[in-house]
Amino acid sequence: MAPSSPAPVTDRVTDGDAVRLTGVYKAFVPSGRAARPLMALEDVTLGARAGEFIGLVGPSGCGKSTVLNLLAGLIRPSAGTVLYQGLPVQGINRQIGYITQDDNLLPWRSVLRNVEFGLELRGVPRRERRERAREFIDLVGLGGFEDHYPHELSGGMRKRASIVRTLAYDSPVVLMDEPFGPLDAQTRVIMQDELLRLWDRQRPTVLFVTHDLVEAIALSDRVLTFTGRPGRIKREHVVELPRPRDVFRIHELDRFKELYDALWNDIRDEIAERRDARP
Ligand SMILES: Nc1ncnc2c1ncn2[C@@H]1O[C@H](COP(=O)(O)OP(=O)(O)OP(=O)(O)O)[C@@H](O)[C@H]1O
Ligand SMILES: [Mg+2]
Repeated sequence: MAPSSPAPVTDRVTDGDAVRLTGVYKAFVPSGRAARPLMALEDVTLGARAGEFIGLVGPSGCGKSTVLNLLAGLIRPSAGTVLYQGLPVQGINRQIGYITQDDNLLPWRSVLRNVEFGLELRGVPRRERRERAREFIDLVGLGGFEDHYPHELSGGMRKRASIVRTLAYDSPVVLMDEPFGPLDAQTRVIMQDELLRLWDRQRPTVLFVTHDLVEAIALSDRVLTFTGRPGRIKREHVVELPRPRDVFRIHELDRFKELYDALWNDIRDEIAERRDARP
C-alpha cells in the first residue's frame, strides 16, 4: 500500500484501543441570547492503539482541541462514545497527560517543583519524585535551571519543562495540543527530536495536534486530517517511515514528498472551500 493512500478510518478502530471515539458529535451553545448551537464535531470515529503516535491536522476551528478535551474528560460529547482503555470517560481523566495549547506550567512553582507536580498528585514519595524530576530535567538540557521560575525561562525552555512535566507523570496516554506552536523553526526541530527520544523510553500513546505538516510526518505513525467545521475526519495517512527517525533529515527521505503532498492536498481543499464560501 502506498504510504499516503487513504484507508477507511473505522477499519483501524479496534477493541484494544488505548483511546477511542465512536460516532462523536459535539455541539456548543455559545454565549449571547440569539446564539445558535455551533456544531464543532460531526460523526468523528478514531482510535489509537497502545504506543501509537497519532498526528491530528486540520484547519483552525475544526475541533482538534475539542477532541483532546473530550478525551481528557473536560467536556462531554453531545452524541457518541468516548472511551479510555475501553471504559467511558466520565469526569476529568487524571490518568491522561495533557499539554494544552498554552504551556501549563504553574507560575508560582520552580521548574523542579513543576516537574514534580504530577508525581506529587500520585503520592510518589518526595525523594523518589525529586530524583525522577531531576532525571527528566537533565534529559532535556534544563539542568541548572531547576530553581528558576517559568517567567525566568525562554519560550523553548518553558515548552521543554512543560513536556517533561507531563512525561514524568508516566501516563499511558499523552495529549499534546500544538506544543511547539510559538517556537522558531530551529528550536522546533530540536524539540521534535527530544520528544521522539523521550517517547521512545516509555512509548505512551500520543495524540499530537499540529498545523505543521512536516512535524506531523516526522513524529507520527498515522496522521488524521480533519475537514473544516463541523470537523469530520477526512482521511488517514499511514506514515511508513522507519524508526528511530532523524527529524533533521526527514525531508530527504523518498516517501516524504508524497506524504507531504497528500496532507497538503487535504488541507488546501478545506481552506479553498472556506475561501470560496465567503460572501
Ligand atoms: N468551550 C467552548 N464553548 C463554545 N464553543 C467552543 C468551545 N470550545 C470550542 N468551541 C468552538 O468549537 C469549534 C472548534 O474549536 P477547537 O478549539 O476545537 O478548534 P481547533 O481545531 O483546535 O482550532 P485551532 O487550530 O485554531 O486551535 C470552534 O468554532 C470554537 O469556537
Ligand atoms: Mg486548538
